[in-house]
Amino acid sequence: MESILAQLEGLFASAIRAVLGADGDGVDPMIRAAGDPKFGDYQSNVAMGLAKKVGRKPRDLAQAVVDAIPANDVCEPFEIAGPGFINIRLRTNWLAAQLNAVSGQDDRLGIGALASPQTVVVDYSGPNIAKQMHVGHIRSTIIGDAIARVLAFEGHRVIRQNHIGDWGTQFGMLIAHLKEKLPEALDNPEAVHLGDLEKFYKEASARDKEDADFHERARTEVVALHNKQPDTMRAWQYIVEESRRHYLPIYQRLQVSLTRDDECGESFYADGLADLVKQLQSQFGKPAGSTGEPSITVEESDGALCVFHQDAKGEPAFKSSEDKPFPLIIRKSDGAFIYATTDLAALRYRTGELKADRIIYVTDARQALHFQMVFATARAAGWTRRAAGEVALEHVMFGTILGPDRKPLKTRSGDNIKLAELLDEAVERAEQLIRDAEADEKRRRGFTEAEIKDVAEAVGIGAVKYADLSQNRQTDYLFSWDKMLAMEGNTAPYMMYAYARIRSIYRKGEEASGEVAGDVALVEPAERALGLAILRFAEMLASVGQTLKINVLTEYLYELATAFSRFYESCSVLKADSDAQRASRLKLCDLTARTLQLGLDLLGIRVVERM
Ligand code: ARG
Repeated sequence: MESILAQLEGLFASAIRAVLGADGDGVDPMIRAAGDPKFGDYQSNVAMGLAKKVGRKPRDLAQAVVDAIPANDVCEPFEIAGPGFINIRLRTNWLAAQLNAVSGQDDRLGIGALASPQTVVVDYSGPNIAKQMHVGHIRSTIIGDAIARVLAFEGHRVIRQNHIGDWGTQFGMLIAHLKEKLPEALDNPEAVHLGDLEKFYKEASARDKEDADFHERARTEVVALHNKQPDTMRAWQYIVEESRRHYLPIYQRLQVSLTRDDECGESFYADGLADLVKQLQSQFGKPAGSTGEPSITVEESDGALCVFHQDAKGEPAFKSSEDKPFPLIIRKSDGAFIYATTDLAALRYRTGELKADRIIYVTDARQALHFQMVFATARAAGWTRRAAGEVALEHVMFGTILGPDRKPLKTRSGDNIKLAELLDEAVERAEQLIRDAEADEKRRRGFTEAEIKDVAEAVGIGAVKYADLSQNRQTDYLFSWDKMLAMEGNTAPYMMYAYARIRSIYRKGEEASGEVAGDVALVEPAERALGLAILRFAEMLASVGQTLKINVLTEYLYELATAFSRFYESCSVLKADSDAQRASRLKLCDLTARTLQLGLDLLGIRVVERM
């Protein structure tokens, strides 16, 4: 089933073409949900923008478009308002019929997979080996996973890529330190554990700075690593594996769908970097001159090999704060390849081998310039060109999580927050709230100990994730336990509670009458509003798939839950006037719960049946 919006767009697009002929081809009908139900359910603003272009009065054009829409059972007669808005009101019977159709559907709620799916690479999480996952990694992991889930649900072929930081010169010191401090780890990697990896990293880097002999040994290990010497490789393997022991359980706890199989870290590309650089150098060694298109030159500068970017006019495309051309360094003066080199190799692999149509990178906003330059290099090198059109490259960036002092979130002693501890605290706080409710006669649910633990885990983790996902990701946001755990407002607990409450109504209804048989009828305004909100899920999803703004989905879920509350306040469900009315309302309850559940599932948040 197509979304309501897609169906309306179809009707309008044909009408615009009928009125304007070729001028109407590809015109966006500009249909939006109406801001105020007084004006209908949707509104098209197409006439205002288009009128001038085709030399007609907006209201006349609007009338002509409306007249060209054939009689149909979707919309009530249109209304032209103000300077030329077209107000669209859906027929209530049609809405009810749609809901009945959806209600008989499986978990997808009647939302079909896309007819022309793409291959989409989603690059997210990307923790660095032997370092703590920091807050930036948390956001990347949570946001990236929601994006991957939404795109996969839409029917795209999603390839998750966890670009872990598992290569680079820092491994020299880590390996040298390991060989000295814990040689038994090499023979018995399963039995010997490092414990605090971050501490290990700090020790190694302190020695590397202070101890010249050690520094020399570390450098030898880097060379040995490049030459794949067996004992060095074993040490490297061991350190990577120890890190996995840390982050894989965090993914699991976060209900993030990444597994070991989604890892394709920096080391994967290491062997190809020298060739890649050589190729770029020979292809772009000389200035391209003015080609009328963005171009690159690869040149040495202060001993480092750099990609310089020119715009279509031949001017530097990126500039430093001193207004000098700002390059992408792809080989340092000591000969080492770096983050950017690997990212170029990864991009080429994803377009060339993985055949991606779209590549999405989820990292914090501080990497914006890095990705702009990587993308520009890839485009100039021709890696994104295909017969079917350019590969889309998107940097999905996000801001910082701020602490109560409005500075980046840290522990009281100024250290980075440890993700595992943050999640523990979330669950502990959720558990306390549940225990408080259990101690209160009016709010008590009579949970068993096991249920308390289970609900606390779902609520605590859900709250942290939802708080993040419900932000406009571009901006920084204030981390607040009280806000994210509140039972009111746009929070995970509110959403999960709405779900559990509806399930309990439905259970009671079923218990009383067996299976709920009958059709949805939308009589009261609150019933109609809820029905429309349920059906708008499909178009919301399509919008999230395009814009990758997950907060559009959380806002939608909040609106849906609010529409349900209004409905439940004004319409008796279990004590309805007739069996038919009761069945209809129970079905609306069921559809609301299923939509909430599916929506939360796409965010990687699990619901509980009782709360
Ligand atoms: N490891 C990187 C970091 O911690 C993130 C990797 C993001 N992905 C990428 N292809 N660069 O910042």
